Amino acid sequence: MTEFDYVLGGGIVPGSVTLVGGEPGIGKSTLLLQCAARLEQAGIATLYVSGEESPDQVRLRADRLMVDAGRVHVLGETRLEAVLHHAQALGSRVVFVDSIQTTYTEDLEGAPGNVGQVRDCAARLMRFAKEAGPAVFLVGHVTKGGGIAGPKTLEHIVDTVLYFEGESSLDHRILRAAKNRFGSVDEIGVFEMTGAGLEPVADPAATFLAGRATGVSGSAVTALMEGTRPMLVEIQALAAKTGFGTPQRVATGLDHRRLAVLLAVLERRGGVPFAALDVFVNVTGGVRLLEPSSDLAVTAALLSSVRDRALPADALFLGEVGLGGEVRPVAGVERRLAEAARQGFRRVFLSARSRGSVADLDVVGVDGIGELAHRLAA
Ligand code: TYD
Ligand code: MG
Repeated sequence: MTEFDYVLGGGIVPGSVTLVGGEPGIGKSTLLLQCAARLEQAGIATLYVSGEESPDQVRLRADRLMVDAGRVHVLGETRLEAVLHHAQALGSRVVFVDSIQTTYTEDLEGAPGNVGQVRDCAARLMRFAKEAGPAVFLVGHVTKGGGIAGPKTLEHIVDTVLYFEGESSLDHRILRAAKNRFGSVDEIGVFEMTGAGLEPVADPAATFLAGRATGVSGSAVTALMEGTRPMLVEIQALAAKTGFGTPQRVATGLDHRRLAVLLAVLERRGGVPFAALDVFVNVTGGVRLLEPSSDLAVTAALLSSVRDRALPADALFLGEVGLGGEVRPVAGVERRLAEAARQGFRRVFLSARSRGSVADLDVVGVDGIGELAHRLAA
């Protein structure tokens, strides 16, 4: 599974323990069951331990998946001692424990899922992996509050931590490495949830722009570096007159404090008032903006919405915005621009101090957001 291998840093490492976290329903079981089926196809003995669903339910799901999952050994078990016993007896080389919250050891008091149980079970599976050599995958449910329930505590125990993210309403799922002893972090893999399970997306860098409506105000495109791969994403802004009371500020996919900063900078340095406007900003495709390089695109989207004037469809925005309204260069410009050019973009707005250019792409250097506002109005 190309995208899975990629996020793992090349593939599954024998003797390693990987935690796969994510909200219920996002597709963790589906991903790992498909993985198990692939391994079986390749002649690698696996054990899929399901404490969440009955083996029959798992089978039903397996039948729905296109892959031949029939050979995967499914065990309905929640007692750790029994899991270890079966894994040993079967000589499993990859063991999937779905989930760590339903697994318990007889050695401890306390219900499955409590912090002591979760931590102890994970530590013993870790020892098992190191001594007996199979790779172990643990499913960990993330609760609404964030952190994998209790198992946030697991991050330092295991070798690798992957988070499976996305919005259940959208088909795209993003697998992100938060820790990886065997590869780099911040790499993401992109999948699509289909009727027949998860499919690695063939061109992840272009996925998030698919279906973008051009000619609409409030939309700007930027290039993010996700690990070592550039990805283009669309940022949508909508500024609308406040009905009553305090104006709303709603940010989806970016930090609301970052949005507040950019609004203040636009107001003070760009002379664009937002005091009487509700502001909504959304990053499409369930992507999260984790780097300030997208500031300029957020700013451009806001300007475009306030003026109700669409940005050029072939323009990319790349830059960090400082409190003085200055536009700063970002890292990895060449790779981002190359990807933008590949996807048909023809001009890029970036810091006048940025170096880097790519054939086929007109570079528009801007010193500050005042200049950006001016150029976009022209
Ligand atoms: P699941 O893997 O059970 O999530 P998790 O283990 O993270 O709780 O995925 C559940 C969702 O995925 C469920 O809403 C149905 C959907 N799904 C598909 O759309 N296609 C499929 O082929 C499968 C197996 C599930
Ligand atoms: Mg599940």
